[in-house]
Amino acid sequence: MQRILVVIFFLAVFLHQSQAQCTTANCVEPACKCMNPSPPGGLSLANTPQLVFLAFDGAITTTNYNNYTFLLNNRINPNGCPIGMTFFIFHEYNDYSLTHSLYFKEQEISTHSMSHLTPAANWANKSVAEWTDEIGGIQEALAEFANIPVAGIRGARAPFLQSSGDATFTAMKNLGMFYDCSFPETSVNRTNPPIWPYTLDQGFQHECAIPPCPKNKYPGIWTVPMVALNRNDTVCSMADACDKPNTLDETYQYLLDNFQRHYTTSKAPFGIYLTANAWFQEADYRLQGYKKFLDTLSTKDDVYIVPIARGLDWMKNPKPLAEVGNFFSCPPLTQTSCGNYTCSYEGDASPVGPRNMKSCVTCPDVYPWTGNPLGLP
Ligand SMILES: *[C@@H]1O[C@H](CO)[C@@H](O)[C@H](O)[C@H]1NC(C)=O
Ligand SMILES: *[C@@H]1O[C@H](CO)[C@@H](O)[C@H](O)[C@H]1NC(C)=O
Ligand SMILES: *[C@@H]1O[C@H](CO)[C@@H](O)[C@H](O)[C@H]1NC(C)=O
Ligand SMILES: *[C@@H]1O[C@H](CO)[C@@H](O)[C@H](O)[C@H]1NC(C)=O
Ligand SMILES: *[C@@H]1O[C@H](CO)[C@@H](O)[C@H](O)[C@H]1NC(C)=O
Repeated sequence: MQRILVVIFFLAVFLHQSQAQCTTANCVEPACKCMNPSPPGGLSLANTPQLVFLAFDGAITTTNYNNYTFLLNNRINPNGCPIGMTFFIFHEYNDYSLTHSLYFKEQEISTHSMSHLTPAANWANKSVAEWTDEIGGIQEALAEFANIPVAGIRGARAPFLQSSGDATFTAMKNLGMFYDCSFPETSVNRTNPPIWPYTLDQGFQHECAIPPCPKNKYPGIWTVPMVALNRNDTVCSMADACDKPNTLDETYQYLLDNFQRHYTTSKAPFGIYLTANAWFQEADYRLQGYKKFLDTLSTKDDVYIVPIARGLDWMKNPKPLAEVGNFFSCPPLTQTSCGNYTCSYEGDASPVGPRNMKSCVTCPDVYPWTGNPLGLP
């Protein structure tokens, strides 16, 4: 008993110290932010927009693309610009032509790795070079085969949310990535009221649910805590990992209740992180319930559904609510072309077996893969 108390004591001291490391003296907003439930730049809650991050993991395919466009449905934010979702994409079976289409609908294209191989545990021990090949590889492949600007691909999510801590963040730093969104936060204290995204200038500060977590400092790189959702007695950082809703209205209520916990407390960005394939495709009512939830958000003039990177851009330049419409304006994108190429590989041309790949540009010589993301001969 005494030993347990001693351990608790040291744990408390340790936790206290690790949080005390980030202060308004060594981390000056808005360029830097500590982990806490306060809006950026000292904004009052009344002056703070409620941002919503809708993110999906995996390949964009003909199977899920229609579900995404069904949710988008020309939906707009209160300033009349299209809402923006975020796609953490891996290479296998990704349709780069459909990826191109989403980008030109003002959606964010982000990285989830080149290979995404199982077992998940292997991702805990990769080197900086391996992470560079995975994150940098899918970034290059997306830019090339979807024919979109590489500068727009700014975020990373570790496969299975399993990072290697410092090795992952060192690779991100070397690649100039802007943010990570891989680390859950499940504690009651930090999910109610929810904490805001923060920078790693003073190191990683929230829950380390899936170790290892980074120990070093990464000035200017943001982390977006995956603030957990609740449903009945389950808690989940990926929305599809909670107790599954069984009707349209249960789906709607699940999302709305969790949204309210953000909207009525700290207004920290509300994230719905989903692996869409199963959750939507095994039950159309979940897709309909999700849509109904978005319809409700669309009635609120202080709610903006924006890509994660643009939400963080706002945190670095936190304009009050009255100026937010202007901040999230939608200048036209410079259209690029997308040809209709279906590339087929087998035998020596693919390290992973027969594959097809849809591309906007001429087919590469071999199937793109980790270490050779452009499929050079
Ligand atoms: C969602 O995707 C599934 C699988 O492709 C499809 O059967 C269904 O019609 C889609 N629903 C909508 C509304 O797009
Ligand atoms: C991989 O990393 C995990 C988490 O840090 C650790 O528990 C495990 O022992 C490591 N495995 C190997 C083979 O190094
Ligand atoms: C949670 O917050 C309460 C009230 O601020 C505090 O008393 C408690 O120690 C916190 N618990 C943890 C695990 O941080
Ligand atoms: C979850 O809670 C709702 C009410 O919020 C209830 O109707 C439903 O039966 C519960 N589901 C389970 C599986 O407990
Ligand atoms: C793309 O090419 C395939 C055959 O190569 C054709 O069936 C399909 O209709 C084309 N799609 C478009 C959008 O042109």
